[in-house]
Amino acid sequence: MFIHWAPASQRGWELSWPLVGGSSALPGGQSIGVEEYHSTAKTFNPVNFDARDIARRAKRAGMQYGVLITKHHDGYAMFHTRESDYGIEHSPYRKDIVRAYADAFRAEGLKVGFYFSLIDWHHADYPAFTDADKPYRFGKWRRSTPEQWDRFLKVMFGQLRELLSNYGKIDVLWFDGGWERSAEEWHSAELVKMIRELQPEILINDRIPGFGDYVTPEQAIPASAPKGPWETCLTINDSWGYNPSDRKLKSPRYLLHALCEVAGKGGNLLLNISPMGDGAIPPEQIDRLEVFADWMTRHQESIVGTTAGLEPWQFYGPSTRRGDRIYLHLLMRPYESVSVRGVNVRRVKAVSVLGSGAKLDFTSQISAVDLMFNKDPIGELIIKVPESALDPYATVIAIDF
Ligand code: GLC
Repeated sequence: MFIHWAPASQRGWELSWPLVGGSSALPGGQSIGVEEYHSTAKTFNPVNFDARDIARRAKRAGMQYGVLITKHHDGYAMFHTRESDYGIEHSPYRKDIVRAYADAFRAEGLKVGFYFSLIDWHHADYPAFTDADKPYRFGKWRRSTPEQWDRFLKVMFGQLRELLSNYGKIDVLWFDGGWERSAEEWHSAELVKMIRELQPEILINDRIPGFGDYVTPEQAIPASAPKGPWETCLTINDSWGYNPSDRKLKSPRYLLHALCEVAGKGGNLLLNISPMGDGAIPPEQIDRLEVFADWMTRHQESIVGTTAGLEPWQFYGPSTRRGDRIYLHLLMRPYESVSVRGVNVRRVKAVSVLGSGAKLDFTSQISAVDLMFNKDPIGELIIKVPESALDPYATVIAIDF
């Protein structure tokens, strides 16, 4: 569960990007004056924020970890920090949101991740982004003096030190915004060294130049699996932050199928939610989490802790694997049977519907020559799938070899 949230959510504005005039990657985003954007900090009082409820929903949806915005490009700290006054401690709410989140997720047995933007469009020494800097153009970022930059780095290192020292074990550090400076300018190597000293087991994503334990494609399911460990992040509509005017909602089934696709390619899905200004989760997002919860009670086994399954030519759909068990995800309705090709058909022990456990009949098709001369023939497994076996969202069939 990705959680994008900031004072700007009170107005239904996307996080950070409106203050630089919007972004073409965020069609539902807005363009807002810098001062007006930052003024939302004064009234931020999310009295309906319930970290335990969010953690429970994540858990029920079968999620394994959270990644909360601790500070987005807008520079607003959702945690108590000595490095800046621009944060939750100085809001009407005052309470440390990051602490509530970390405690609640951990209490549910979920892993705890922090999103942290390297970019800081609010800090004077970064330097802060002003209306005169518009439009935002790639590579055209105003730079501070070396003295200012040193001061900024102290703040950045200081905030990361706070985040990684004051909240217990942190499992994931999810950097963002690395594109505005080089690895040398960020002092990436030194930063990563400090992070690993403070949290030896932490995973660091690939958005800090020069480093990365895993890669993070965004807003799409990669056509083929990226090399190495990966995670794709996806929004429910087209916006990261709460944006009621963005009605391009992905359907629950689309999102569930995305989960199956991502698992079938050996990746993780980081599904985003966007709390409203008062901290509550929008109903259309709750609905989708509920669909995940319902489906995952019956199908978690085919997703969590599995690896990529068969080759794409072996089965028309994503499949996953755990030991001698293959899970087929039926994302289209079968007519009467589904086939799995290129498998050792005589080694199939059982085929069943995940969730109900109902056994399915199967036959095989083997070439005549193999049938006569090969004791262990590779062939086609044909599984009968009756209507009664179909799940309304995605049917999963388990094959035991
Ligand atoms: C992009 C955006 C940022 C968002 C992030 C999530 O880098 O700049 O707004 O938080 O993607 O992946």
